[in-house]
Amino acid sequence: MKKFNIFITIMVLSLAFILSACGTTKTSGSEEKSNEIKTLRVVTDAAYAPFEYMDKGKIVGFDVDFLNAVAKEAGYKVNIEHVGWDPLFVELKGKTADLGISAITINDKRKQTYDFSNPYFLSTNMILVPEGSTIKSADDLKDKVVAVQNGTTGQEVVEKILGTNSPNVKKFENNNLAIMELKDGGAKAVVADNTVVEAYAKNNPNDKLVTIADTKNFSNEFYGLMFPKGSKLKADFDKSIAKVIDNGTYTKLYKQWFKVNPDVKTLKTQQ
Ligand code: ARG
Repeated sequence: MKKFNIFITIMVLSLAFILSACGTTKTSGSEEKSNEIKTLRVVTDAAYAPFEYMDKGKIVGFDVDFLNAVAKEAGYKVNIEHVGWDPLFVELKGKTADLGISAITINDKRKQTYDFSNPYFLSTNMILVPEGSTIKSADDLKDKVVAVQNGTTGQEVVEKILGTNSPNVKKFENNNLAIMELKDGGAKAVVADNTVVEAYAKNNPNDKLVTIADTKNFSNEFYGLMFPKGSKLKADFDKSIAKVIDNGTYTKLYKQWFKVNPDVKTLKTQQ
């Protein structure tokens, strides 16, 4: 009987000890969580100036400044890594990265596999051609060789005109390689985001390239931050995107990079 009592006492005491231990770990754990700032792994394709590109070994661009502002507001640190365009999608699908920023257009196809933040940038595709080209609109691309970055909406809109899998659509790993092909004469045009081709034409006057808009064939697109499906980060980032737009930081950064005012009204209808 005595032995049995001792046994019970030991059991009760150890149970109490385990429970109290659990209690302590739990409190200190949650305290730790609220104080500690989490660093997110962000993936990008840093070959898309002025959104993200390499400058003296550093990734810079509007997207970088914008994300830093938004992440700070949301209470996160970010570590932006250049992995390339196709790998970016692979990483987010496999959940080896927390988010992607890369002038990524929000569309239904991508929404099936990924989650997006609310829109932060208004964009549209545009044509880049050599000065004096006979190409005046997207319809003129029909029988021409066109260079695009593989897996972009630029490829999509060009394939709509030339046909899916048309051999005349030359696809490149990044947009700079597509532009190089145009300069080398291997393609008659490049189709990519308006801000990117406009900046290229302006900053490289010796290349003698001009841009052509086509609102009939190319519709408005919005960029979003891209998350793995089901990511809990979306809620936090949506909130801080709205804040950064409302408190003027967005306009400040936009003007710094693009020298014009953003269309905040259109963007706000998307929040
Ligand atoms: N906005 C286009 C898309 O989402 C092109 C983006 C390309 N971005 C880049 N960093 N290369 O398809």
